[in-house]
Amino acid sequence: MSPFRITRTLAEDAALASLRADVLAGLGSRPRSLPPRWFYDARGSELFDEITRLPEYYPTRAEREILTHRSAEIARFSGARTLVELGSGSSEKTRLLLDAMPDLELYVPVDVSESALRGAGEELAERLPRLDVHAVVADFTGHVALPEGPGPRLVAFLGGTVGNLEPAERSRFLASVRESLSPGDALLLGTDLVKDERVLVRAYDDAAQVTAEFNRNVLRVVNRELGADFRPELFAHVAVWNAEAEWIEMRLRAREAQTVKIPGVDLVVDLAEGEEIRTEISAKFRPEGVRAELAAVGMEVAHGWTDREGRFALWLGVVS
Ligand code: SAH
Ligand code: AVI
Repeated sequence: MSPFRITRTLAEDAALASLRADVLAGLGSRPRSLPPRWFYDARGSELFDEITRLPEYYPTRAEREILTHRSAEIARFSGARTLVELGSGSSEKTRLLLDAMPDLELYVPVDVSESALRGAGEELAERLPRLDVHAVVADFTGHVALPEGPGPRLVAFLGGTVGNLEPAERSRFLASVRESLSPGDALLLGTDLVKDERVLVRAYDDAAQVTAEFNRNVLRVVNRELGADFRPELFAHVAVWNAEAEWIEMRLRAREAQTVKIPGVDLVVDLAEGEEIRTEISAKFRPEGVRAELAAVGMEVAHGWTDREGRFALWLGVVS
């Protein structure tokens, strides 16, 4: 078996301090919000994996279709010896890429979810003995200290997770990815595309209510980590299309007026009936928008592919 290592660049207390700051900023003022990274404790990561298998949630299947047909081309183009994957989760689709990259020596999955990294990393190390797997527990919106690895490097950011960043955060993030690339390296970016509103809303409001449970999971995380007394069942799951911003918004709507205590940040939140907490944006993209955002940080698109139905796109960006 090849070596599997895991490095925590995110100390427990730093993660907790960052949750505290997010809860104070997001729930201590109006409109109320919580950043999506807090969905992903062990249960949240499992719920997300369940979402990827739902009939309504097309992005994972569409991206897998592209990777099935294009991984060899991506591997040839990049010639990568190191693959860094941001927000790797279960690394399930990444296997298609890994299988197509015979020259790859090091795989570096980066995620806030240690449980997801352990599950994926141990299995991959067993399955691909030729590969060195070095997982890093880190927040990809901050500075990530990556293990040294041979170039060229391919940095993958799959699943459309880039759409979960606020626009200003997104451009900062893309600029920092660009900064981390040397000539000859490349970025593989997955973006969900703008499409019929009904298809989009269904993908975020499934009949089996798995997405609703995923959404409410953030309240369980705040309860556990900060001693809060949220009653998740008192919140309805809401998914709406914001046509102007071209993103899906997930919210939690108070079913009745309630007072929530959050001792970990010394906060008491009075919620009116119907008041909402925004928990996620999931931006949908247009090809010209992706090209412009990459150009703005000094990158150009060398290749772009969509699935047959044109629902999702994968982009190979290089330093321009
Ligand atoms: N890439 C996988 C998983 C997508 S789910 C796929 O395409 O299916 C989003 C992943 O990003 C989760 O595993 C979550 O834990 C991780 N994540 C979310 N916010 C993060 C952040 N700020 N820093 C690092 N990882 C993050
Ligand atoms: C991880 N990310 C791309 C997912 C999305 O589609 O925005 C998270 C998710 N939220 C609800 N369902 C899935």
